Amino acid sequence: MKIKNICCIGAGYVGGPTMAVIAQKCSNVKVTVVDINEKRIKQWNDPDVQKIPIYEPGLSEIVKETRGRNLFFSTDVDKAIDEADMIFISVNTPTKTYGIGKGMAADLKYIELCARQIAAVAKSDKIVIEKSTLPVRTAAALKNILDNTGNGVKYQILSNPEFLAEGTAVQDLRNPDRVLIGGDVDTEEGREAMEALVNIYESWVPREKILTTNVWSSELSKLTANAFLAQRVSSINAISELCEKTGADVNEVAKAVGMDSRVGPKFLKASVGFGGSCFQKDILNLVYIARTYNLQEVADYWEQVIIMNDHQKRRFAANMVQTMYNTVAGKKIAILGWAFKEDTNDTRESAAIYVADYLLNEQAEIVVYDPKVTEEQIYSDLDYLGSRSGDANRKGVTVVKSSYEACDNAHAIAVLTEWDEFKQLDWKKIYDQMLKPAFLFDGRRLLEPKTKKEIGFEFYAIGN
Ligand code: UDX
Ligand code: UDX
Repeated sequence: MKIKNICCIGAGYVGGPTMAVIAQKCSNVKVTVVDINEKRIKQWNDPDVQKIPIYEPGLSEIVKETRGRNLFFSTDVDKAIDEADMIFISVNTPTKTYGIGKGMAADLKYIELCARQIAAVAKSDKIVIEKSTLPVRTAAALKNILDNTGNGVKYQILSNPEFLAEGTAVQDLRNPDRVLIGGDVDTEEGREAMEALVNIYESWVPREKILTTNVWSSELSKLTANAFLAQRVSSINAISELCEKTGADVNEVAKAVGMDSRVGPKFLKASVGFGGSCFQKDILNLVYIARTYNLQEVADYWEQVIIMNDHQKRRFAANMVQTMYNTVAGKKIAILGWAFKEDTNDTRESAAIYVADYLLNEQAEIVVYDPKVTEEQIYSDLDYLGSRSGDANRKGVTVVKSSYEACDNAHAIAVLTEWDEFKQLDWKKIYDQMLKPAFLFDGRRLLEPKTKKEIGFEFYAIGN
């Protein structure tokens, strides 16, 4: 089976970069990315490629090369579905905010809507691919909807979870550790569909890195991979608190532990807490699934990763207040970095939102600078938490255009995203602009302790 036409529903952080790379590597395949959000599609089609809605190093160059050649962005979902041999579903699956499983389960309403739309439109056989991270056994629901509401056309459902990390998406897509494809291994049609997708990836990924499994293994592997990664961060963050009490230095501990080849060095960086659209959502989802099967111990085990992460964010903010003589009311505090990690403009579940919220409750005056996050996004993140009115958020928080502006006349600085440009700052100049004693709270362990000694900051870093 030779694929000529691919459609992807959802032009987000996953759909956008993934389809851009497929289009670049498979120049004979037409790739159309559709989204119901007109503004987003308009941004993807902006003549100035710097204005595409997602910031990822290297992405605008690929879009420049492929857009209009074999990569297209559109709001015409029906047309793209009709034309495609292969449809990727890449819509968001946030944690449910209502009903059964509220605050835990994944909200699958968008996935179901996609399935119904595909069923309504399709006139020829299709391969439908779950790209979004989904609870294990979602493929069964998808298949049911497609088979029972469609026009009698045949569907093959594959699971092909995305392992890219934001900020390194292009690099991860070009050179993945592995590509995972789950499908109906027991039937000829299932194996053919899997082979068609293997063919796409084989254009640039070595065959031995393409793993084929049954659908349920593939769905569960994605949740498991994220749970394991998040668990590493929560593990080292738990140790960071112990380091602060005992005089051990968490960086040194992490290095010593990580050099054991069975443990490995990655994902052992202590921080103010992990954020991002995936870790929390996927673990909550895993916990919910375990509870559904009445596996209480399994659920509690994974839930602790989230509890630890919430504790770390709260602990950091509480530490700031306590260090500043138990009051920050009316004090100007600069927050450097709002994104959940460096090299992305994504702020979903960013620790900065929770730290700012805590400090606002203590009536601090917050000034934020982030190199890539817009003012509009910062306010919308705080409004979404719902701790106070939109007006109160706009009154309490100012967004500025440089680190120096943020820190001018501030009592304290909190570094919350590991943007490279924060390392290059003239910290002496910043110190001179601040009220004294000047406090520097480093939630990302970006700065050397000598910054404190040489310059005079009251300095706190997670884990020492
Ligand atoms: C993805 C996956 O979907 C999620 O499951 C995974 O765990 C993380 O990455 P992401 O690409 O980051 O989500 O989400 P987002 O940037 O919100 O993009 C989703 C897009 O789908 C949005 O642009 C939204 O407008 C679009 N959408 C949503 C549709 O086009 N149709 C819908 O019915 C719902
Ligand atoms: C993650 C997975 O890495 C990726 O494979 C999956 O497909 C989606 O979820 P992402 O959320 O983009 O990717 O970012 P990631 O690099 O995993 O970082 C998540 C959070 O953990 C960030 O807030 C980051 O700052 C934090 N982190 C990471 C630490 O605090 N310490 C570390 O050592 C590593």
